[in-house]
Amino acid sequence: MHVHLKSVNVLLEKQAAVVVTVGPDRQLDAAAQLLDEQSQGALSAVLAKAGFEGKLGQSLPLYALPHLACEWVLVTGRGPQDELRAAGVIKLIQTVCKALQELGTHQAVLGLHELQVKDMAAADLLGLMARTALETTYQFTTYKTTPSGRSGLRDLSLTVLDKSLMTSARRAVAWAEAIAQGTALARDLGNQPSNVCTPTFLSEQAQLLAKASRKIKVKVLGEAQLEKLGAGAFLAVSRGSEEEGKLVMIEYRGTSSRTAPIALIGKGITFDTGGISIKPSAAMDEMKFDMCGAASVLGVMQTLIAAELPVHVIGVLACAENMPSGRARKPGDIVTSMSGQTVEILNTDAEGRLVLCDALTYVQKQYHPSIMIDIATLTGACVVALGKVTSGLFSGDDALAQDLIDAGRISQDPVWRLPLWNDYQELLDSPCADMANIGGPTAGAITAACFLSRFTQGTRWAHLDIAGTAWVSGAKKGATGRPVPLLAEFLKRQVHA
Ligand code: BES
Ligand code: MN
Ligand code: ZN
Repeated sequence: MHVHLKSVNVLLEKQAAVVVTVGPDRQLDAAAQLLDEQSQGALSAVLAKAGFEGKLGQSLPLYALPHLACEWVLVTGRGPQDELRAAGVIKLIQTVCKALQELGTHQAVLGLHELQVKDMAAADLLGLMARTALETTYQFTTYKTTPSGRSGLRDLSLTVLDKSLMTSARRAVAWAEAIAQGTALARDLGNQPSNVCTPTFLSEQAQLLAKASRKIKVKVLGEAQLEKLGAGAFLAVSRGSEEEGKLVMIEYRGTSSRTAPIALIGKGITFDTGGISIKPSAAMDEMKFDMCGAASVLGVMQTLIAAELPVHVIGVLACAENMPSGRARKPGDIVTSMSGQTVEILNTDAEGRLVLCDALTYVQKQYHPSIMIDIATLTGACVVALGKVTSGLFSGDDALAQDLIDAGRISQDPVWRLPLWNDYQELLDSPCADMANIGGPTAGAITAACFLSRFTQGTRWAHLDIAGTAWVSGAKKGATGRPVPLLAEFLKRQVHA
């Protein structure tokens, strides 16, 4: 779908659908008023007859109103204008897109130029509308052999009547499109089944990005190379599978300045059975999403390419499949990580931290990044703590944590910080190795972060646990693409910082 900005008053043009907003007590916003006048009061008459309340999330499609050139008028409730917030705009646009898709229209004009959100610039509001529309109309249809119902929206125009706003609005919408593109890539990859999306497949996706942009260089390490590097923790996971594990480095150079890169390290477990500590069957299918951290890294790289952001970023995908097999690690096994630290594997289902710790060591040694951020569907405990609303954030660096919190708020992709205090570290004590890979039944999200922290000494680092936010379950099962918006916003703000 394409999003356009139109400065002319398109409401009188011939259009498939025109979307207008109405507040409480059937208060008509400017675009609605215009249509009402043109239709000689037909619009307000129908709204009164229907008892339309103008509540947020309400919508009413009206067909062929008299004297109007458009086929459909979609009336949408916006609630009280002074109560409208970003979350309300998202809900409004989602309502609109779903209603338009049900009507089967290919084109629509959204006459929403009068809407305002407190503390949000008009251009950013347009960007949010564009991004929400693009994300709402996303579909994963790769494996549907028959098209589902009506074909979707193709063109959406947003009205911008204030011409002085056009330049900043264009910029905001371009940024929104770049984020939506990255998010869509992350969702596509997350939604792929694990029989297609293997570590090798993810490494090929990285190579496709390199083909698409000269700013991207890709390096792939297979198991033989990882063995030479002493990546014993990574290999402890990947060797249990017939699919070869891959450590993939994607370097994006959007600037010629010789600044140290920011590293994003994504957990790429293409399927997590739990290994010998096998998971119960219920909902195990969802463990195909255990590579969503890696997918979000690829998504961010896509956004950087689209937005041509002048930053230096290393994306790392730590890709393996966690399987039970004759070659799989067993509880009690001890392995030596690339850092030299030894790990007693008490539970083979705590595999994400094993692939990530060697990835962190490798990127730290090879690229000397100024900041490392890992992104992982790491713990069920994080889902218990924060649900599916917000990602978990862990960092010993207050400034970095604050930057990520701010980026999350601005991009409507929130994170919530949990403690990473030394008091928790002792839960990882092992009688026979430097540490155990699990910390017992309490504070599971925190002890996982504590484990990773031991492989980040000397570098600014943050960990995002996206176990709750990377996908939705149930009838609408699918990857969300989070936290691509957060990370993209974080990197953009680094440019201006
Ligand atoms: N990929 C899972 C975490 C997960 C579970 C994410 C459910 C989303 C939903 C991770 O590899 C895992 O299995 N973690 C274990 C850790 C435990 C063994 C310490 C968990 O959370 O149960
Ligand atoms: Mn696991
Ligand atoms: Zn996992």
